[in-house]
Amino acid sequence: MEGLTVVDHPLLARHVAVLRSAGTSREQFRHALGEAAAILAYEATRDLGRDDFTVLTPLEPASAQRPARAIAVVAILRAGLGMVDGFLRLVPEAAIGHLGMRRNHESLRPEAYYESLPDVIGEATTFVVDPMLATGGSAVAALTRLEQAGAADLRLVCLVAAPEGVLSVREAMPGLPPIVVAALDRQLDEKGYIRPGLGDAGDRLFGTG
Ligand code: PRP
Ligand code: URA
Repeated sequence: MEGLTVVDHPLLARHVAVLRSAGTSREQFRHALGEAAAILAYEATRDLGRDDFTVLTPLEPASAQRPARAIAVVAILRAGLGMVDGFLRLVPEAAIGHLGMRRNHESLRPEAYYESLPDVIGEATTFVVDPMLATGGSAVAALTRLEQAGAADLRLVCLVAAPEGVLSVREAMPGLPPIVVAALDRQLDEKGYIRPGLGDAGDRLFGTG
């Protein structure tokens, strides 16, 4: 699909299988989501701009590189929290933001209930993380809010996406770089669940529902 990068990697596929399985325990689900998020972070950060600098080895100066911009990770609560630690394994210096979005079960529209954004988003590359991209309502609301807050360079990273959600984000944010996901699923069902999906990510992560 246009505007989407589906990360094709056997180790990621293994974690997606664990996450999909109804027999997976909460502990295994948390672990697999963290591991999957680290692999997604590796792919999602691949095209970050770099600064050149010189480092002194014990023998002589060597040219070196580092990411040019600060990095921020913004988790869409609650389920996005399950991806933060995986990201931090690769970018431990990242600033972390939180956006509370609860999907109304009748309208399927997101309702914002919490916001805490890092100061650096005006100059950082900001990765918005949420395992599920279903209708796309929560992601569009989060990205729109971050744009209003002055975010300079936004990216969206999800575990599983429905085609409907991808289209809705692409339509609302045409300038967004390709959304990075582990899997593009078949469709949404009448209750707004991704099929085959993995069920309710927040409930499986936190033992609610
Ligand atoms: C889930 C999921 C996304 C959202 C996706 O969150 O984590 O944030 O639904 O659906 P959408 O694309 O149709 O907006 P939910 O609202 O269930 O909250 P939770 O993470 O607290 O469980
Ligand atoms: N949110 C989830 O947690 N799962 C879905 O399938 C859709 C939205």
